[in-house]
Amino acid sequence: MSQPDPLLPSNLFGEIDPPQRLLMGPGPVNAHPRVLRAMSADLLGQFDPEMTGYMNQVMALYRPIFGTANRWTMLVDGTARAGIEAALVSLVAPGDRVLVVNFGRFGLLLTEILGRIGAVIETVDAPWGQVVPMDAIAAAIERTAPKLVATIHGDTSTTMAQPLNGLGALCHAAGALLYVDATATIGGMELATDRWGADIVTGGLQKCLGGPSGSAPITISDRAAEVIFARRHTEAGIRMAELADGAGPRIGSNYFDLAMIMDYWSDKRLNHHTEATTMLYGARECARLMLGEGLEARYARHAAAGRAMTAGLRAMGLTVFGDDAHRMTNVTGVFIPEGVEGEAIRTMMREAFEIEIGTAFGPLSGKIWRIGAMGYNAARHKVLITLNALESCLRREGFALAPGAAVDAAMEAWSRV
Ligand SMILES: Cc1ncc(COP(=O)(O)O)c(C=O)c1O
Repeated sequence: MSQPDPLLPSNLFGEIDPPQRLLMGPGPVNAHPRVLRAMSADLLGQFDPEMTGYMNQVMALYRPIFGTANRWTMLVDGTARAGIEAALVSLVAPGDRVLVVNFGRFGLLLTEILGRIGAVIETVDAPWGQVVPMDAIAAAIERTAPKLVATIHGDTSTTMAQPLNGLGALCHAAGALLYVDATATIGGMELATDRWGADIVTGGLQKCLGGPSGSAPITISDRAAEVIFARRHTEAGIRMAELADGAGPRIGSNYFDLAMIMDYWSDKRLNHHTEATTMLYGARECARLMLGEGLEARYARHAAAGRAMTAGLRAMGLTVFGDDAHRMTNVTGVFIPEGVEGEAIRTMMREAFEIEIGTAFGPLSGKIWRIGAMGYNAARHKVLITLNALESCLRREGFALAPGAAVDAAMEAWSRV
């Protein structure tokens, strides 16, 4: 008898069979079943005309979602930060000055990535829970003369949405480009890339687009494309006569080299990476779902969900975090009441109700919960179920509140325009 291999797990751990959790945190959220179905479709070779046809369809589907006519609208393979990193490493060379509009954890992430690139980093900051006033950004642009201004649209760490109207014009007048991370708002709040004058905007699927994480939609203006192609240094082995190298410094990453990624998504189909077929199917279905619903209806549904969640939390006697005037519609921060153990409530929500709500980072850690209603989960019944469950958990922990008040207030707020 041969001996069992000691390295082989005895039962192969069993089939994947996760619990059916309702994900009401700041993302990821439950993927729409149509997205999951699309992702189980057969694979294709990356140069199969059906596959390149799907790639072209994805480009067309994401233009209205980004609010742009940009030719270069496509996907970067990887989670949302793959899109961020591709944008920053392709636009910024070591020594370039970049101004970061910083009002939360993800503004700090921009500085972290830029630090690794070797950029000279300037910041214009707001305390967590506020946004940066446009005149402060204008003054910082004048003071620092950056090559790029980089900002988050909605920062899930603080639940604040930075106003962006007019920012592109300010940047361009000063000779700077504008980058926007819209990971947390794409699909839920309006993106107006062309109206804002943003040069690169990136997103992710796992929040308001109602897909899994792993693909980063991106749009790139012609102005930014020019800067990127000036840095084109196609890797040896896939060079093409018609793709001349640029005079600018080589982009400091191969995987995130947008010049090569754009050449791959162009008619030239330069063989850079192997496109993540399954993720592309998912991203395509996310976009079809959104455009089928209609942009206005989609934004109105997220706004109703945010309004209902906020009204319900307040009716429970809780205090909502941050500046009301700049709240994201799809995620709400709420203070953990005095005397209540935040993690005990999150555990009870998960174990008794199969509902996940979010914890917080940095200075807000242990102080607030973050409760989302995004994409497939921006639905009235899911908001009501979550509020009801939270009310029940709080009462069991001894927090006095009026039973039923949250659901009543949320139902009323949902239908208020
Ligand atoms: C505003 C923002 N940017 C970037 C990210 C990072 O996304 P990912 O984890 O998909 O890389 C997140 C994730 O929560 C986010 O909320």
